[in-house]
Amino acid sequence: MKKKTLINLCTVALCLISVPGFSQTGTLTVSSDSKTTISRHIYGQFAEHLGHGIYGGFWVDKTLPVKKQDRIRLDVVEALKKIKIPNLRWPGGCFADEYHWRDGIGPAEQRPRMVNTNWGGITEDNSFGTHEFLELCSLLKCEPYIAGNVGSGTVDEMSKWIEYLNSNSTSTVVQSRIKNGHKEPYKVTFWGVGNESWGCGGNMTPQFYADQFKRYASFAKDYPGAQLKKIASGPNADDYNWTEVCMKNIPSSMMYGLSLHYYTIPTGNWGKKGSATQFSEKEYFNTMVNCLKMEELVTKHSAIMDKYDPEKRVALIVDEWGVWTDAEPGTNPGFLYQQNSLRDALIAGTTLNIFNNHSDRVKMAALAQTVNVLQSLILTDKEKIVLTPTYYIFDMYKVHQDAKYLPIKLDVPDYEIDGKKIPAVNASASQDAAGKVHISLVNLDIHNPITITTGFKDIKWTTVSGQVLTSANVTNINTFSNPDKIHLTNFSGAKKDGDKLVVSLPAKSVVTLELN
Ligand code: AHR
Repeated sequence: MKKKTLINLCTVALCLISVPGFSQTGTLTVSSDSKTTISRHIYGQFAEHLGHGIYGGFWVDKTLPVKKQDRIRLDVVEALKKIKIPNLRWPGGCFADEYHWRDGIGPAEQRPRMVNTNWGGITEDNSFGTHEFLELCSLLKCEPYIAGNVGSGTVDEMSKWIEYLNSNSTSTVVQSRIKNGHKEPYKVTFWGVGNESWGCGGNMTPQFYADQFKRYASFAKDYPGAQLKKIASGPNADDYNWTEVCMKNIPSSMMYGLSLHYYTIPTGNWGKKGSATQFSEKEYFNTMVNCLKMEELVTKHSAIMDKYDPEKRVALIVDEWGVWTDAEPGTNPGFLYQQNSLRDALIAGTTLNIFNNHSDRVKMAALAQTVNVLQSLILTDKEKIVLTPTYYIFDMYKVHQDAKYLPIKLDVPDYEIDGKKIPAVNASASQDAAGKVHISLVNLDIHNPITITTGFKDIKWTTVSGQVLTSANVTNINTFSNPDKIHLTNFSGAKKDGDKLVVSLPAKSVVTLELN
């Protein structure tokens, strides 16, 4: 994206900083020239056995006075159904490589207990296991995405788990699934072969992992109606060598996708990541610089993949992303509980725009981690529930799921602090099966509204409507005592002007427009 020169509109001195309230302009072109579909699976979610994500989030105490099916909390289910979450990744994360699936089946009271060594050292009672997870997915009407244990599990253990889930034979393992209450095969297809094998999943080298992948994948069998989509544990952020080695050594016919994990750390320092609710404009700006790094990561990993897989058979799957802050003061640091501000919504909108714009290679993603952990969609406190600003972004953006990707060109001003610059606006666009065009725009500038004039190539439309998410401060949050402080409102700042669309984007806002 190019910086728009504003020399004729303001003095050089004024242009060095973002001037509060100063009106700025940019242009956008949307074209219909594409054959790419934005996979709905880009809008996926991740739920690990971590803190109060599963236990206390999805899976609650029998005595909690909320509507439940078994112990699955239905208000959480209903909220997630509304935003059409397409898939749910489970059981981890780091937890996946110490999880032994047989511990999580059969009568709950007989299930072995284990220590969750990664997340707070708490005792895991395994009351939420395979059947409970798949019941949750069926209530959510989403596809399960299971991450198998490579780090501390065996090839046979993974192979038997798949047989347990998907086979309709009369084998002993299938008999036990039937005895545990599920006669029909579950037909799980998304299958992770380990998690972060470069780190908590076994500290492997890429060459060693590529060989392990081939071993585990060879015995991860397809059963009738359940052709596995095997997903290799991919690079950590900018570890391009990992991608290179995996792509070179794993035949593309063997893997559906290669995962990428990248978290936005506000300060860029894992030791002191920064608060979820109290941050300066400078820290906000740095957070956005770190968030926009996703564009570079996806571009460069895709370029390596293109070398080995020019037909783009292998998907880049960003199955852990989001902002990771310091845990809320007073909470167990091992539970990764953090509040969620307007800043996080801007991160979500920006990241999803990046994925939409790379939908030729990025076919799937998962926000970490849905409920009560990291960048959550939902926070719960006993019977109370709060929808976070990030939740509303997924609500607005659901219109892009499985829609035709529309290429865009943006020419926008920079948002600038201390001589550092980022493009103030990012965007993505799609056209749904009914012909409606949707454009999502994010204005990262804290101070300045920006007017974007949009032109179209081979796209006709007559009316425009939209929704906006914004608030007085980027630090604003929804709380249990004020759950609706930030919520979606109808957007009236878009007008047709001849064949152009003129949009007045408020400062620090996300807007999704619908053109009919
Ligand atoms: O999402 C939290 C953790 O971050 C996951 O368990 C792990 O895969 C990653 O390092």
